[in-house]
Amino acid sequence: MMAEQNAAGRPAVKATSETVLAIRHWTPTLLSFRCTRPSEFRFTPGHYTRLGLGHGDNGDADFGDWVWRPYSLTSARDDDFLEFISVLVPGGAFSEKLRHVKVGDTLGVDKAAYGFLTVDQLAPGKDLWLLASGTGLGPFVSILRDPAVWQNWQRLILVHSVRQAAELAWREEIAALPAAFAGAQATIGYIPIVTREPGATTLAQRIPVLFADGRLEQAAGTSLSLADSRLMVCGNPDLAKEMRQFLSERGYATTRRGVPGQMAFEKYW
Ligand SMILES: Cc1cc2nc3c(=O)[nH]c(=O)nc-3n(C[C@H](O)[C@H](O)[C@H](O)COP(=O)(O)OP(=O)(O)OC[C@H]3O[C@@H](n4cnc5c(N)ncnc54)[C@H](O)[C@@H]3O)c2cc1C
Ligand SMILES: NC(=O)c1ccc[n+]([C@@H]2O[C@H](COP(=O)([O-])OP(=O)(O)OC[C@H]3O[C@@H](n4cnc5c(N)ncnc54)[C@H](OP(=O)(O)O)[C@@H]3O)[C@@H](O)[C@H]2O)c1
Repeated sequence: MMAEQNAAGRPAVKATSETVLAIRHWTPTLLSFRCTRPSEFRFTPGHYTRLGLGHGDNGDADFGDWVWRPYSLTSARDDDFLEFISVLVPGGAFSEKLRHVKVGDTLGVDKAAYGFLTVDQLAPGKDLWLLASGTGLGPFVSILRDPAVWQNWQRLILVHSVRQAAELAWREEIAALPAAFAGAQATIGYIPIVTREPGATTLAQRIPVLFADGRLEQAAGTSLSLADSRLMVCGNPDLAKEMRQFLSERGYATTRRGVPGQMAFEKYW
């Protein structure tokens, strides 16, 4: 992304200056935010783009010394704004800037969207499992806001694992999805998992443990099957690693050389 040089000899970033429209704090270390959307910006739900933060206004779009990080889009494909969710990591270069951002501030947004965590990368199936830890929920919110997914699948199963109940972002909106897409083919099962607040949710263990002992399938009311189940995993890299091993042992594969697979992963660090 930083390969080109601008007239001043500094790296040129293919990005636009956008304006922060709204910020929502879910906890002191978890926020979602919206910014203006350039009319040319296109993405598929599940994609990420790169966000940049620098010093104040950036009128000449020379983003040379800004801090850039990849962020999944949470907004719907056709929303007239872009939306993201972010953790604030203590001492993190981007987090330390983001924690001070206010409505009206400037946000750099890469002109392109990237990634392979999109539903169209998967082989056709019936049950779409969306497995998220922490902010890994983000791309699945965008996917679930897409009417196409409600028409093309029979069952959507969203599993969101967080440490504390307050981190179950968009909980009410997710609960309201069946009403929002009433009449569509798909049903949805929402399975929140809170791992560090005993009693907050029925299930309180990590996702791979709950697959290994069958409780997640029981809670979803459906069993994994290579023929019908497709799985997307996003967030903590150890979750991705453990689920990849679990699923590979059962014959699931990622998409390779144009052959659509049954599972897809995005690791955030
Ligand atoms: C493809 C992709 C998409 C991403 N999308 C998102 C997103 O939608 N929302 C988001 O919050 N982050 C996302 N990230 C991570 C994000 O790019 C930054 O790493 C994160 O915001 C912290 O930036 P930082 O500069 O403050 O700290 P960094 O120096 O980048 O990270 C420091 C440490 O913080 C921890 N960490 C980083 N990101 C997270 C996270 N999301 N949750 C928990 N711990 C984390 C890790 O231990 C990491 O080593 C994504 C990463 C990738 C590769
Ligand atoms: N969440 C907070 O309260 C909080 C507060 C301040 C700072 N932070 C910082 O934010 C970062 C991470 O926070 P986070 O809570 O969003 O992400 P996280 O540590 O990835 O935890 C999110 C969820 O993923 C689970 N998980 C972790 N490893 C897993 C694995 N190998 N397999 C399956 N599930 C797994 C966690 O369960 P477990 O609970 O069992 O680990 C939790 O339910 C860290 O840098 C942390 O220091 C977090």
